Amino acid sequence: MLVRQTKNTFIRFIGEMGYITNQMTRHDRTYNETGADFLREINRFPQDVDDIVARLRKVYNDSVSTEELRADFIEFIKDLDEHLFLVVGETREELDEKDLDFSYSLENPKTLVYDYTQETKQKVDECTQDFMLEATQREPHLNGLQFELTSRCNERCIHCYIPNPKKNAGGDMPVEKVKSLIDEFAEMGGLHVTLSGGEVLLHSDIISIMQYCREKDMQISILSNLIALKDEQIPAIKEANVSIVQTSLYSMDPDIHDLITTVKGSQVKTKAAIEKLVAADIPVQISCPVMKANYQGYADVLKYAQSLRCKAQTDYIMMAQSDLDTSNLANRLSLDETEVLLKDIMQWDKDYKEDTLRHPPLSEEIAFDIERFAKQPLCGAGINDCCITENGDVYPCAGWQGMVCGNVYKQSLKDIWENSLQMKQIRAITQGDFPKCLKCNARDYCAMCLVRNYNESGGDMFKINKHFCDVAFINKKVVEEYAASNAENYAMHYEWLICDIYHCGRYGVAAADADIYRRLVSCYFKLVQAQNDIHRNREHECQKEYNEILEEMNLHLKYSIDSIICGKQENYDKLKILKQDFPLPNIIAINYMIDSLRQILKDEKQ
Ligand SMILES: C[S@@+](CC[C@H](N)C(=O)[O-])C[C@H]1O[C@@H](n2cnc3c(N)ncnc32)[C@H](O)[C@@H]1O
Ligand code: SF4
Ligand code: SF4
Repeated sequence: MLVRQTKNTFIRFIGEMGYITNQMTRHDRTYNETGADFLREINRFPQDVDDIVARLRKVYNDSVSTEELRADFIEFIKDLDEHLFLVVGETREELDEKDLDFSYSLENPKTLVYDYTQETKQKVDECTQDFMLEATQREPHLNGLQFELTSRCNERCIHCYIPNPKKNAGGDMPVEKVKSLIDEFAEMGGLHVTLSGGEVLLHSDIISIMQYCREKDMQISILSNLIALKDEQIPAIKEANVSIVQTSLYSMDPDIHDLITTVKGSQVKTKAAIEKLVAADIPVQISCPVMKANYQGYADVLKYAQSLRCKAQTDYIMMAQSDLDTSNLANRLSLDETEVLLKDIMQWDKDYKEDTLRHPPLSEEIAFDIERFAKQPLCGAGINDCCITENGDVYPCAGWQGMVCGNVYKQSLKDIWENSLQMKQIRAITQGDFPKCLKCNARDYCAMCLVRNYNESGGDMFKINKHFCDVAFINKKVVEEYAASNAENYAMHYEWLICDIYHCGRYGVAAADADIYRRLVSCYFKLVQAQNDIHRNREHECQKEYNEILEEMNLHLKYSIDSIICGKQENYDKLKILKQDFPLPNIIAINYMIDSLRQILKDEKQ
């Protein structure tokens, strides 16, 4: 029996911890102890399982029998094979056949499956990325490196955080320097290289840099406006097996897009390039930052992305320029415009709705463990990511060019990463440094960020930016209003679901009608109100009432789930966020489950 990594899988070791990730499914896992030992034996070349087991026996000093070890190893690789991390088979040809290339003709080209947080026997029961962040907080590990390979750009976007004088001054990092930094990054155990700018396609050696990243087994992302893409570069990009090419498309109306980029004809070129990359089966992500000029038409961009089966994202949170000039923010949406946009997104953007509902408010987990939360970092900047600009300056994340941590023409990357005072300072910052946020009701809707604080406040990363606070509260309001305004619908959905499952009429199952749902909604809003008054007071009367109704509903829903799933994995998968144990955390998650269950029932009946 032979085994090897798939071409889209990457394996790394962070201290004793083994990490495996697949850039196509976006799944990842961490392993310690035996799992990490097993992972160490697997690489890109087909190997005989018996040879690996023989090597492993030496690792374990013959403390386990060959049969036991073989059985454990086979169980391990078969599971990873099933989830597309590895290919296992009898011949090399069989492995090649099983190793899928990225293609838009796949069932779901961006992820294949929804759930990013797979359980393994040895893994903690939380999202791998959160787990990694906590692990690397103790022991920083440079996992992602963004290069701004050139400061030149062929556009002058009205919102851009990179100051125009920097673009005008020009400057590329020489290819040899880039390669030596990639070598250093590889030695440090790095995984993910982002090639950006300015406009990265203006760098004359971009293709050879990409190829070098591939040789060094890097996961590659490219950020580009694509207007300079040449046809002959496309096969090389395909060959480099990039994880994603992210490009900005601001509007389907060429005039609006061009007004933002200030380059006539840019929309037509970007769009044509996107279509060429898609035709070549290269994964493209369309990014549509939303501002005053394009907020009326952003949905058309999302529809266009959907028609191509591309991943898409919107971003309405604009940051100030990295030189602390805030004039680009004149293009930012006002709070009223943001509210209109968020309502629209909530209504129409399925991905956004899923994401929001995936992280339901009133996070019980955080209410229980605020102490642990206070110790968590804000993000991975300086803990597992950093950036290098074309002049060699290193800073913790894109857009934070004001926070120079060192220069790779004067020191090694490793030295800067390990010893820079700025890096150490950023690393030491935790959620607890923002006491106001620990008690904040909008925390679950907030995208507070050190760079945004820094750039907009004239250089103080601890000065919480009021605009982002206001946006967080608007976001919370929109989500809650959405839940409330759909209460009647959900009540009827719930009733329909329960009646269908119990094979009864409206009053056939005691208390299993829409009224329970309505009581839950009204109690939920009483609870939210109470929690606004007394922060997360779990002994509050409303909380007790809420929990009682929740329990009542959960009983019925649990029965519904069992009946609908009928042991079928595909039905279980469709429940998405709801694979967790009861009790469900709150009303929004319940809405989501009711929707999900109704859909499965409908599908079954068709
Ligand atoms: C700085 S650009 C570099 C890559 C390439 N030139 C491009 O435009 O895609 C990367 C992304 O940052 C976005 N961006 C630029 N200025 C921004 C700002 N002030 N706030 C948030 N995102 C911004 C761009 O729209 C683009 O999607
Ligand atoms: S957003 Fe990108 S394309 Fe636009 S000016 Fe900035 S770097 Fe150039
Ligand atoms: S909304 Fe403001 S106070 Fe609340 S968590 Fe966000 S940054 Fe902190």
